[in-house]
Amino acid sequence: METWEAIRSRRNVRAFTDEPVEREALSRILEAGRRSPSSQNRQPWDFVVVTDRDRLGELSKVWRSAGHVARSAATIALVAPVAGDGRHRDQIQYDLGQATMSIMLAAADLGIGSGHSAVADQQLARRVLGFPGDRFCAYLIALGHPAGRPLVPVKRPDRRPLEDVVHWGSW
Ligand SMILES: Cc1cc2nc3c(=O)[nH]c(=O)nc-3n(C[C@H](O)[C@H](O)[C@H](O)COP(=O)(O)O)c2cc1C
Repeated sequence: METWEAIRSRRNVRAFTDEPVEREALSRILEAGRRSPSSQNRQPWDFVVVTDRDRLGELSKVWRSAGHVARSAATIALVAPVAGDGRHRDQIQYDLGQATMSIMLAAADLGIGSGHSAVADQQLARRVLGFPGDRFCAYLIALGHPAGRPLVPVKRPDRRPLEDVVHWGSW
């Protein structure tokens, strides 16, 4: 896929086929995350990859809108340091957002669907993923081949109009 096509084709996918995502594809998607820019190049992320069906089922219980994780072929958990200072916390969240989008676009480029999930139950996430006490699980990114609709450019995205969003020169 071309970059512009991948950008327009990515959408939140929450229904997946039973087909696995090949290790090579997963590695490329993870490499896209690793290459993301970060504040002061701190790279505050670790990626925990889950493909085991039972563990995906357990992981899907960390948040009420994480059901699609159970149905995914693989889920990447974004794990980051717990930061005391508000500015550092903001930087970590910004960095994680950039890594998320790189991961999602790399997936879309391969025709693989992706869907975010927030994480509410940190204890459960820690039990399933095994990350250390000074980290938390910020988000989950469920991956898989889209069931039904393949990834094709979205003609009319559900977004605010460009002229509403963009302020040329000044607000
Ligand atoms: C920070 C963030 C958290 C999100 N959390 C969830 C979630 O917990 N469960 C879910 O199904 N979708 C989640 N989403 C997906 C959004 O609902 C989705 O991106 C939005 O509705 C736009 O849809 P689209 O991505 O298909 O264009 C999240 C998205 C972001 C950016």
